[in-house]
Amino acid sequence: MIDSNHIIAVSGLNKSFGENHVLKDFEMTLSKGENLVILGKSGSGKSVLIKCIIKLMEPDLGEIVVLNQKINELDQDEMDLLRKDVGFLFQSNALYDSMTIRENLEFPLRRHWSRTDRESKAEEAVMEALEDVGLSHTVNMMPSELSGGMRKRIALARTLILKPKVILYDEPTTGLDPITAREISELMISIQKKYKASSVIISHDMNCIKMTSNRVITLIEGRNYVADTYENLMNMTDPKVSEFFR
Ligand SMILES: Nc1ncnc2c1ncn2[C@@H]1O[C@H](COP(=O)(O)OP(=O)(O)O)[C@@H](O)[C@H]1O
Ligand SMILES: [Mg+2]
Repeated sequence: MIDSNHIIAVSGLNKSFGENHVLKDFEMTLSKGENLVILGKSGSGKSVLIKCIIKLMEPDLGEIVVLNQKINELDQDEMDLLRKDVGFLFQSNALYDSMTIRENLEFPLRRHWSRTDRESKAEEAVMEALEDVGLSHTVNMMPSELSGGMRKRIALARTLILKPKVILYDEPTTGLDPITAREISELMISIQKKYKASSVIISHDMNCIKMTSNRVITLIEGRNYVADTYENLMNMTDPKVSEFFR
C-alpha cells in the first residue's frame, strides 16, 4: 500500500539463502524526517534488508515502496533515478583507493549530473560536501592518507553530494574507536538537521543508537520483533530485547 507520509514501506519481506531463512515477513515503515535504527545481532539480516531496499538484492517475496515507488516494478533507468535520492553508506566505505578525495566525491556526479552541470557546479558541490563533514583540507589527498574515521566522513560526504532524501547507513560506527564513533554519530545528527533527510541506521552500537534514533526496530529471528524508542526498549523486561542492553 502506498502512503505518501512514508518514505520507505516494507511489507511481507522474505529472503532466504538455501535453508537459511534470513527475513521472515519483515515489516517496517520510515516516516518523513525520521531517524530509524534497525538493531539486530551480527548475521541477523540487517545488511540483507538494506540491500533489498536499494535493490542490490532481490527479495523472495514482499513489497518495498521507496519514495512512493514500488521498486520491484522499476526498470534499470527508473531505479537509477531513484538511487539519486537514496544515499547509501557502505559499512566498508567503498572509496576508490586510486582516486583522490575530489575524484571520489565527483564519482556519483558522473552518473547523475549532466556534463554541463558537472563542469560548472561540481567543484562547489565537492567543497560543500567536504565542509559538511569538516574535511575540506583533504580534497587533494588519497584515501590511504586518512584515518578510519576520516574515511568514514569522506564516504558520508560522497553520499551527501547528491543531496539525498533518504540516507541508509550500514553500521556507520563499527570498527571505529569510541571517540571517533561518537564524532560520527554527532556528524549524522548535524547532517540530519541541515538536510532534513530521513534515515535508516543499521547498528548495534548502543551509544550511536541512543544519540541518533527517534525510533528503534529490533530485528530478531527475521522479524520486526518490537519497535519503540530507545528509552522504552531499554526498560523492557523481554529477554530478547534486554540482552541488547547488557
Ligand atoms: N549473498 C549471500 N549469499 C548467501 N548468504 C548470505 C548472503 N548475504 C547474506 N547471507 C547470509 O544472510 C545472513 C544475514 O546476513 P547479513 O544481512 O549480512 O547480516 P548482518 O545483520 O550482520 O548485516 C547471514 O547468515 C549471511 O551469511
Ligand atoms: Mg551487516
